[in-house]
Amino acid sequence: MTTSTPHLPGAPIVASGAGLAADATTTRPAERDMAAPRGISIALQDVSKVYPNGRRALSDVDLVVPDGDFVFIVGPSGAGKSTLIKLLIRDELPTSGTVLVAGRDVSRLPRREVPRLRRQVGIVFQDYKLLPYKSVRDNVAFALEVTGTPGRRIGPAVERVLALVGLTAEADQLPSQLSGGEQQRTAIARALVHEPRVVIADEPTGNLDPLISWEIIQLLLRINELGTTVLMATHNAEVVTALRRRVVALEDGRVVRDGIGGYHREY
Ligand SMILES: Nc1ncnc2c1ncn2[C@@H]1O[C@H](COP(=O)(O)OP(=O)(O)OP(=O)(O)O)[C@@H](O)[C@H]1O
Ligand SMILES: [Mg+2]
Repeated sequence: MTTSTPHLPGAPIVASGAGLAADATTTRPAERDMAAPRGISIALQDVSKVYPNGRRALSDVDLVVPDGDFVFIVGPSGAGKSTLIKLLIRDELPTSGTVLVAGRDVSRLPRREVPRLRRQVGIVFQDYKLLPYKSVRDNVAFALEVTGTPGRRIGPAVERVLALVGLTAEADQLPSQLSGGEQQRTAIARALVHEPRVVIADEPTGNLDPLISWEIIQLLLRINELGTTVLMATHNAEVVTALRRRVVALEDGRVVRDGIGGYHREY
């Protein structure tokens, strides 16, 4: 397994003095060369997904997300938002079409390359998916341990992301001892610890009250300002309307709108 944290050009999460200290070892030329096309974090071309039971979840979806973009994915329940995200993280394969993430054709990726993809793509879910018997610190460290990061690098990397999400004081707590917002910040720290090029979040505020939801959104915006692409599926109309960012609306598995700002319909 590799020893350095993958980190492609054009999307540095690392900004000096920004909480995640720059590390001279984070970019490896071999990985840089694989990152074609440059400047594009996510590209879906003519993507359709039909589940084995015959249910069509996505139809002819085209979507390009440049490095550094912040994109909301909205749409009614069943529109295909989570399916789109599952294709991006190779949880599901497209029935047809091409899915490029961080320069790799996800559906053609050899199995041995999947861990490398997962290090370039941080994932955040509505239900946090933390390991209940591990502390905040150990949940975040575990993401590095399973990818073979040398022990001496793990401690400093974990402390940096915990500081970034504001959880240094809670590092020894178990998830059950945290509020929902703190659990989600732990999950975000875990998603960031590899310094990914893209963070993908599927309804990250779905279980949180409005005030805490705003805190989580602010954190994702900050992460985006540090250079990481963020793609977030949400039903949170208030947030989407207020922020005036790029909004991609899905209905019945199709992109029905792609533009700046506005939620337009109650999903
Ligand atoms: N594993 C599966 N097998 C069969 N059909 C599925 C599967 N997962 C999702 N679907 C179907 O695909 C369609 C899209 O589902 P998806 O979960 O992507 O919607 P969503 O936009 O995320 O909805 P929500 O807002 O409720 O989370 C739905 O009709 C759903 O029933
Ligand atoms: Mg969903």
